[in-house]
Amino acid sequence: MSLSFEGRVVLITGAGRGLGREYALAFAERGASVIVNDLGTDIKGGGKSSAAADKVVEEIRAKGGKAVVNYDSVEDGEKLIQTALDAFGRIDVVVNNAGILRDRSFARTSDLDWDLIQRIHLRGSFLVTRAAWNHMKNQKFGRIIMTASAAGIYGNFGQANYSAAKLGMLGLGNTLAIEGRKYNIHCNTIAPVAGSRLTETVMPPDLVASLKPEFAAPLVLWLCHEQCQENGGLFEVGAGWIGKLRWERSRGQIVRKKNKSMTPEAVRDQWDKICDFTDATKPATVQESLQSIVSVLSRMESGDVGANSTAAAASPA
Ligand code: NAI
Repeated sequence: MSLSFEGRVVLITGAGRGLGREYALAFAERGASVIVNDLGTDIKGGGKSSAAADKVVEEIRAKGGKAVVNYDSVEDGEKLIQTALDAFGRIDVVVNNAGILRDRSFARTSDLDWDLIQRIHLRGSFLVTRAAWNHMKNQKFGRIIMTASAAGIYGNFGQANYSAAKLGMLGLGNTLAIEGRKYNIHCNTIAPVAGSRLTETVMPPDLVASLKPEFAAPLVLWLCHEQCQENGGLFEVGAGWIGKLRWERSRGQIVRKKNKSMTPEAVRDQWDKICDFTDATKPATVQESLQSIVSVLSRMESGDVGANSTAAAASPA
């Protein structure tokens, strides 16, 4: 059966162009009532215009879809959600997508370059999502998307401000996934790659043309559908490909001996083992992460490890 969004109310921030526009069109095509939000700024966050958002709403309506426009900044999160409530009486899905770039090498990053990027990406996503949260909680349904970036996951030259904000959104999303679970509110994070205004300055034109933003929309739709039970995931998506990411942790090495002080020399001497990913584990929760660390204490106490210089690794229980 095809995935329908009939009866669902979906807010997409920054939906006037690029990826957000494709999400808006795709949701509307499948019956959703869509709030097309866009402040209409330039790439660095300057100015404002209603033109881009208006055009998307017109496009949706021309195809028989349901959409309303909102021109507020994501920094006015409550206003965006109020538009959804006024027009359609509820809010089911929030796609945090609005974004700008102020790339600079780290030494040249100004306070404004830093603050604006945090405000629009990270704080904006917080404010919009918080405004929707209680409505989702009360109706026991919600789907939230955070838009991260490979620049945040891996780091990227000239994008210290943007990398920090984008990985901040992953941290935010990870915790919302935990807090939302019992209310059937799911939050997932995507790191898309697509040709758009944001990438046309760094990608060659043929790549911009081939990496179509429409290739990211099906993942977003699936993650936001009531059938999808995925929660707290991180996905890279582009060119028609989708992959999932997770953390990997080396088995590590205990570098301390019972009743002896722990030294940087011991860290140095065990460095290869600390960094050896053979038989790596994949902790998925704070509890899992902590458990193996705490277990080291009792193992040391019982004399299980630390008695000789080749102390064993901390193994997850
Ligand atoms: P885009 O520039 O085509 O679209 C972003 C939209 O957000 C613009 O229409 C802009 O007016 C709007 N916007 C900016 N500030 C706003 C604010 N304060 N309130 C409301 N709307 C605002 O960019 P694109 O490429 O479609 O990016 C969408 C998201 O995906 C961004 O968060 C971006 O950081 C992220 N992303 C994109 C990648 C790509 O390859 N295109 C790579 C990784 C992440």
